[in-house]
Order: sequence, then C-alpha cells, then structure tokens
Amino acid sequence: MRHDHLITSKQLSRADIETVLDRAAEIDADPAAVADRHANTLLGLLFFEPSTRTKMSFETAMKRLGGDVVDMGSIESSSVKKGETLADTVRVIEGYADALVLRHPREGAAKMASEYVDVPLLNAGDGAGHHPTQTLLDLYTIRENAGLDDLTIGIMGDLKYGRTVHSLAHALTNFDTRQHFVSPESLQLPREVVYDLHQVDESATIREHDSLEEILPSLDVLYVTRIQRERFPDEREYQKVAGEYQIDADTLEAASDDLTIMHPLPRVDEIAPAIDDTDYAAYFDQAHNGVPVRMALLDLFLSEGGETDE
Ligand code: NCD
Repeated sequence: MRHDHLITSKQLSRADIETVLDRAAEIDADPAAVADRHANTLLGLLFFEPSTRTKMSFETAMKRLGGDVVDMGSIESSSVKKGETLADTVRVIEGYADALVLRHPREGAAKMASEYVDVPLLNAGDGAGHHPTQTLLDLYTIRENAGLDDLTIGIMGDLKYGRTVHSLAHALTNFDTRQHFVSPESLQLPREVVYDLHQVDESATIREHDSLEEILPSLDVLYVTRIQRERFPDEREYQKVAGEYQIDADTLEAASDDLTIMHPLPRVDEIAPAIDDTDYAAYFDQAHNGVPVRMALLDLFLSEGGETDE
C-alpha cells in the first residue's frame, strides 16, 4: 500500500487492509523479529481528547519496534492552552518526530493537520468522524474469530456519533458482508454515511433496526458501542437513550453458539460483566490486538523512504 497519511478507512482498499492484517499476524507470531526494526525512530503523540487503549497501544507498538515516543501530554499542560492552533502545533512536532498520531475532538481535524506536515500522520479519532486504526484492529479480530467473507455482523449502539462505527462500516464494504445496524432512532447512522456506503458498494447489504431481537440469531459478530455522551449537545437527550441497549446472558439465549461479541471499549453498561468469561467475549483480545496491528501500520508507514508498497 502507498499512502502518505492514514485519515479515514475510506482510503483503504481490500489489498491495503490485507497487507496490514497479514503483517500484523506475522508480527504477532514472532514479535522478537522486529524488536529493533525501528530503533532511533520517534513517534509523536498528540491527543487532544482522553484515550487509554489507543494511546498506550501506539506507544507500546513503537517501543516494541525499537523506537520511542514524544508525547504532547495533556492539553492543560501544553501550549494549546495558550491558544496555539492545531496547524502550528503539528508543524512544530513534526520537527521532533518521524510520524505523528493525532486524536482531536473536531471532525476533519486529522485531514486538515495532515496538509501541514510531511511525516506520516495517523488519525486516532477525529470527533464523530473516523478512527481507521481502530478499524484495522477490529478487522483483525473479526478475521481471527469469524472470517471476513460471508460475514453477518450486527453493529449496535451509538451509530450517530460513534467514529469506530463509521470507519468499520466503510471498511467492511470491501468484503462480502451483511451489515445490520441496531440503534434507537435518534442515534441512527448519519444519512450521509448510509449514502456513502451505497456509493462505494451499490450492492452493499445494509439494514437498520431498532431492536436486536429479530437479527441476533443470524449474527456471526455483534459489535457493541458506547453511547458517546460527550458528543451530545444536550445532556437530556443522552439521558433519554442511556442504558437502552444492554447485552446480558438473557439477551444471548437466542444467539448462535459461535457468536463473537466485540466492543472498542471503554464500555459503560452495554455488556454485562458476566459475559466477559464466556466464549462470546472477544473485546479484551480485540484491545490487545491493537499492539500488533499498530506495529504493522507503523512498520509500513515508517519503512525506508516512506515506501509502503507491498
Ligand atoms: C473509541 C473511541 O475513542 O472512539 N475508543 C477507542 O479508541 N478504543 C470508542 C469510544 O470512546 O467509545
């Protein structure tokens, strides 16, 4: 694959995705083989929004490749507090690092920032927009558990503000999948995302539901998401839908024994802890897969001269 930056999953072809996932599997099988591959390489971390998994797994990935990170730290302790623009911040930090990872509350921020820098910039979430590196680890987890072709997936929760959902839905159009979206009406997939999905894949099988019941027995994978409280303009609107979609042992009585349950985490109350020790639960493995997948991505983007061709 050959990309200067990773901004959205829309830019990834099936071949690109397979390149990353295959490389991640290789690394997962023998991490020691790449332990010094990117010695002396520095990754710049710019997180303007809270993060645990994404930030720490990028940091782990860079260190496991022999490199290190430079971290802007919290907004409170950086010059952003003094009113510095994002364009200025990224132009400064690109002078310190070989690649940048950016998370920002504004949709489109990663695209804009990428126009100011020459080093690879990876979008780690832009508002309710996209989260393509999460998508790659999601796809890796789906491939391991259910395979990526002839897949029936349910995607449930906050489909309006959930950037992991927007990215995943796009990437899945590269494969033979049936996508069922389950949400309260107020949190349906934005119409422009539905329109886009049909634009890229005329035959895309996309169905929307307000209840899980009718489709649960047919699912290979159920991808559950958190209601994105911080993106609601009005807290009362959040309270109307909070806690509406919860998975517990009773819910799963109708599920196939082979169902795989995923969640990008953090969860609030969407999945009962009692599910964690069942064979359905793949969400902790999914979080762990962030390391080999991000190692693969960094390796591809940082390889000599930025050349990321197969
Ligand atoms: C997600 C995010 O930040 O969009 N978290 C993550 O990266 N694993 C999901 C969420 O916050 O709900």
